[in-house]
Formats: sequence, structure tokens, C-alpha cells
Amino acid sequence: MTSNATQYTWAGRFSEPVSDLVKRYTASVDFDRRMWRQDIRGSLAHARMLARQGIIAAADLADIERGMAAVGAEIESGAFAWSLDLEDVHLNIEKRLTALIGDAGKRLHTGRSRNDQVATDIRLYLRDAIDDILALIKVFRSALVDLAEKEAATPMPGFTHLQVAQPVTFGHHVLAYFEMFGRDAERFADARKRTNRLPLGAAALAGTTYPIDREYVAEQLGFDGVCENSLDAVSDRDFAIEFTAACALLMMHVSRLSEELVMWMSPRVGFIQIADRFCTGSSIMPQKKNPDVPELARGKTGRVYGQLMSLLTLMKSQPLAYNKDNQEDKEPLFDAVDTVTDTLRIFADMAGGIAVRPEAMKAALTQGFATATDLADYLVKKGLPFRDAHEAVGHAVKAAEQKGVDLPQLTLDELKAFCPQVDKDVFSVLTVEGSLASRNHVGGTAPAQVMAAIARARKRLTD
Ligand code: ARG
Repeated sequence: MTSNATQYTWAGRFSEPVSDLVKRYTASVDFDRRMWRQDIRGSLAHARMLARQGIIAAADLADIERGMAAVGAEIESGAFAWSLDLEDVHLNIEKRLTALIGDAGKRLHTGRSRNDQVATDIRLYLRDAIDDILALIKVFRSALVDLAEKEAATPMPGFTHLQVAQPVTFGHHVLAYFEMFGRDAERFADARKRTNRLPLGAAALAGTTYPIDREYVAEQLGFDGVCENSLDAVSDRDFAIEFTAACALLMMHVSRLSEELVMWMSPRVGFIQIADRFCTGSSIMPQKKNPDVPELARGKTGRVYGQLMSLLTLMKSQPLAYNKDNQEDKEPLFDAVDTVTDTLRIFADMAGGIAVRPEAMKAALTQGFATATDLADYLVKKGLPFRDAHEAVGHAVKAAEQKGVDLPQLTLDELKAFCPQVDKDVFSVLTVEGSLASRNHVGGTAPAQVMAAIARARKRLTD
């Protein structure tokens, strides 16, 4: 043994050490150390299997369990000395274990490779992250239901093309987001199924010569089963891509909501106020209160899209099986996890800090002829073909616009001039309340329907 290359676990066949630059370039410990819990959990399950199969002695297992408890405590307390020389989380932990317990530590890696080890760690990590995210989505959705319930009958203009279209209730509008985030939750739960498979046992790529029991390891770690093919087990990261795609979709929904919050909070619209704790001021303009949180969430959406693109590109040209490229899966994945987790936490909190201004919504409703469709529907019920009704109402809108009033302010005679079928019962359909109440079917905006949707939503949250 001549060179200091032997400081590396794998350096037996090397005759010179890597340069400092290469060392830094190839190391992952700075970011993969966040998987230390999963690494220890996976190692313990592997060691128990080795002992159960008679591949290592019971005494070795006892040493490994004792040593790992000590390593875990050191990391937890911050006393653990992470070393770049030891490249990644796996070698750092193994080396420290061996320093503490001797040969048993060196036996831990029997029948295993870092390739199946890292794939196992990431899947465990991601499974935990998905469970956290699912719990957060639930909290957020229940905050949305609370907000919807408070404003179940509050009229606001519904928009198409950002032009006033028809009256809806604010509660109905909020419930639209409840649905979007519900589908997001389904996507995460679905991605979890494919994440929750055990790669260990694949070893480097071809499996191992020891009489291992993969099912036993899977069971101990709470996996639903094992990865069927060893080459696939160590090489593909599709589960991480799928997860990040679900993150990208969720952030797209967050971004749409953010855009609305920003717009609604603009004094030009003034539909809502967001509690001060989610806003910041300006260093130059004393009057400013800016909706920073939704703006930043809108911005962070681009970042998560970027992580998805990174992972797709990382994977696309890799031949089977494991390649070092895969080490690059972690930072995008962790960043997507962090961004989505933080965003959900803050949005769940912020939903409770939204105060609605019904007068502003009502005022906006009276400016856009929001009940024009109701008038057309009224005429159809009086026997007019819809296209004729559409045209008659168009003329009425034009007249109201010239007069500077909304449709309900036109007199009966003025309305009759456009269509003789109009009667005095027309005024009940021209009001916002009448318009809302008449959309009385599942999925419609009638306050009674919104309340029913809220009851169903609450029930779905507990299913
Ligand atoms: N740090 C590596 C990664 O993140 C662990 C696996 C390394 N395997 C290897 N043969 N170099 O993927």
C-alpha cells in the first residue's frame, strides 16, 4: 500500500488520489446527508436480513445495531463530523460505524452496493415526503372549505376572458381550487405506489450471490414489494420524475390562485385583503402593502418546472444500469420537496387570513351586465328561440350601456321594446340573487348547492 488513495473505501486498485477539484466535483455528501435517517433505516433492515439468513453472525448484528444507534445520536446532536473525503452519506455513516464497532461494520455492506442502497434511500425519503405533502394538502383544502363556507352566498362576478361573465359566489369560486388540489393529492398518492418498492438486493446491477431475502427487507421497511428487475431497480428514477411532475402541476394550481389573489388585492379591484403577516411593505413608498407571498409562490412555480425538466433530461440518455449521472437526481428532487412543502404550509395558513370585501364584488357585478344570460334564458322560457333571445338581450345591453345603468335599472317598457314577451316577473331573474339561486344543480353556484358541495367536501376530506 503506497498512496493515500487508500483513504477511500473503494481505492484498493488506485495508485494516486483524486485531485481536490475532482473530489469536490464528485462528492454528494453536502446534499445527500439529509437522507441519513433513511440510510440508517435501510442499513439496519439489511443487516437484520443478513443475520436472519446466516450471512453474518448474530453478534455482528448486535454490534451494528448498537453502533448505528450511536451514529444516529451523533448526527442528531450535530456532533457527527461529515467528511468530503468520504464522498457521500453512505460512506460517511459506514466509516463511522466501523470506527465505533470494528469488523462488524465492515460486514454491513455484504451483498449490497451503494447503487441499490442509494435507490432505497431516495425511495424511503420520497415516501416520507409524499406523506407529509398529502397531510399538508389536506390541511390546505380544509382551510379552503372553511373560507368557502364563510362566503358560500357572497356574490362576486365570475369571469371569462377576465371580463365580467355571470354572477357566482365567492364560496363556489374557492371550491374550484378545492377540486384542483384534490386531484393533486390523488396524483401524489398514485406516485407513492410506484415509489414504494424495494431496490435493495439488486446490489450493483445484477443481484448478489448471497442467499438474501428481499421480501423480508421490504416488509421491515414498509415497502409494498420489491423491484422485480435488478437493472431497473438501480437505474431508473421515473418515480422521482413522476413525483416532480405532480409537484409542477400542484404549483401550477398554486400559481393560478396566486395570480387571482394578487389581482383581487390590487386597489383597482379590491375584492379581498390578505392579513398583514403575509404581506410586506416598500422601502421607498410608505403606503404600500404588497402581496409578497402569492407573488413569490407564482415565481417559485417556474423553479419547480425547472426541477422537473432537470430530472427528465438527467434520465433521458442513460444506458442501463446505474450511472453517476443519477447522483444529480437529489438536488432537484429535494428542492421540489422543500418548495412544495413550504408553499402548502404557508398557503394553508394564508387561506385563513383572507378577508372578503362583498361591497367591492357587488359593485363590480353591477358594472358588467352580469345577468344578461339570465335575461336570455328568461326569454327562452317565454318561448323565444335562444339565438333570437341572445340578440334581443344584446340590444338591451347596448341601451343600458348608453343610459349608464345596469339591466335591472331599465324600465319594463324599455325592456319590452326589445322583446314584447317580457313581463314584470323579469326583475326577479335580473337580480344577482335571482341569477345565483337559479343555478340550482350539482356543480352549480346557487348558495344552497355551494353549501351542499361544502358538506360533501368535508366528508371527502375524512375519507
Ligand atoms: N452518491 C451516489 C449517488 O448519489 C451513490 C451511489 C454511488 N455508486 C457508485 N457506484 N459510484 O448516486
